[in-house]
Amino acid sequence: MEAHIRDIAEHEGKEIEITGWLYNIRSSGKIHFLQLRDGTGRIQGVAVKGEIDDAFFKVASELKMESSLRAAGVVREDKRSPSGYELTLTRIEPIDIPEEDFPIAKQSHGEDFLLSNRHLWLRSHDQFHILRIRSEAEWAIRQFFQDRKFILLDSPILTGAIGESAGTLFETEYFDLGKAYLAQTGQLYLEAGAAAFRNVYCFGPTFRAEKSKTRRHLTEFWMIEAEMAFCSSSESMDLQEEMVKYLIRHVLEHCGNDFRELKRDTSLLEGIAGSEPFVRVSYSEAVEYLKEQGSEIAWGNDLGGRDETMVSEKYDTPVFVYNYPAEAKAFYMEDAPEGDGTVLCSDLLAPEGYGEIIGGSERMSDYDSLREKIREAGLPEEAYQWYLDIRKYGTFQHAGFGLGLERTVSWLCGIPHVREAIPFPRMMKRLYP
Ligand code: 4AD
Ligand code: MG
Repeated sequence: MEAHIRDIAEHEGKEIEITGWLYNIRSSGKIHFLQLRDGTGRIQGVAVKGEIDDAFFKVASELKMESSLRAAGVVREDKRSPSGYELTLTRIEPIDIPEEDFPIAKQSHGEDFLLSNRHLWLRSHDQFHILRIRSEAEWAIRQFFQDRKFILLDSPILTGAIGESAGTLFETEYFDLGKAYLAQTGQLYLEAGAAAFRNVYCFGPTFRAEKSKTRRHLTEFWMIEAEMAFCSSSESMDLQEEMVKYLIRHVLEHCGNDFRELKRDTSLLEGIAGSEPFVRVSYSEAVEYLKEQGSEIAWGNDLGGRDETMVSEKYDTPVFVYNYPAEAKAFYMEDAPEGDGTVLCSDLLAPEGYGEIIGGSERMSDYDSLREKIREAGLPEEAYQWYLDIRKYGTFQHAGFGLGLERTVSWLCGIPHVREAIPFPRMMKRLYP
């Protein structure tokens, strides 16, 4: 009976057939230990000379790493193995034995080599578990919004207007219409959607021509964005907190084995998913604290990566830093009522030095003030007429946010770089494979 390794426990004591790949083999003269994987899990298959047909025993010694094969065996409980089971092999049939050795061997390789072989690296132990957690995280986020009756509003990738900052745009020629830009955000379109459907979200790839080569930056990353009508910045923070806790609870519940295999200590995550509210500090308080700690930051600057780490290290929960100075943020944010030069926005900083995972704000709702902001930012007003229209016909208070999926997944998994949190990372110096 054909089975998947994932469901192995259901087949204890029975003979099953699996299709998959060999990821390692150890042999002594009388016994082969085949490490098998089928894309749903891994299991050790044992072939003992004299117990398995001689032809099968011989064929096992001809297998190379990443041979594809069909195998049959009896499922036996084995407390020492990570899956809890072992296969006593009864049949081994190669499908394809590679002529060349698999480039990624057991010994450690440099990052650059691994990234150039990303298409093969995906088969490796850690990558398997990281990307399973990513898949589950995406699912949880969609579920979160679906449960709350948000409408999924897919935003365009090709856009005529700059969403975040002119400095990081990918542009392309667009027929007779001039330049098109790859979307930096779906937010502006979600704002139009919020006037039609009240609460909306989108979840897709976004593009930033970032020249930064930090461990937190990709040129293509996935962002979940939400936009809520008649919602304030602080109510938006409430929802962000609820979403992050939901997401953590979901992955802890569904990816326990993946976290164990990654040797990720999840105790901090468990704490965060609990009832303790996330800390909220104003930008001005954060700057005071950073100066005390010796940071060079001046009021008016955005927080640098190191500043973010310093602030987040002070607390066990993620931290909202709210109300940044207008000059440090994008053009569309609503002014704070205090009139102190700050805008109604927040960044959510993850613990353990992972930095900003969510950026959010209340959007400027007055037509004239927004038009002024667009002019001040030096943006072409014609391209934003449709965006201004949202304020022209029944303007309304609204707020929203965007969560970077790769930063969130790398934090959940405890891995140092966002590039392993996406199947095929796009960075300044990498477009292949
Ligand atoms: O703070 P950002 O730029 O916010 C926006 O784009 C808003 N329009 C979102 C909204 O309000 N709807 O980006 C949001 C998040 C960041 O907090 C970060 O997690 C992630 O997107 N992010 C990146 N992730 C990887 N590589 C990059 N270059 C990223 N830039 C932003
Ligand atoms: Mg931001």
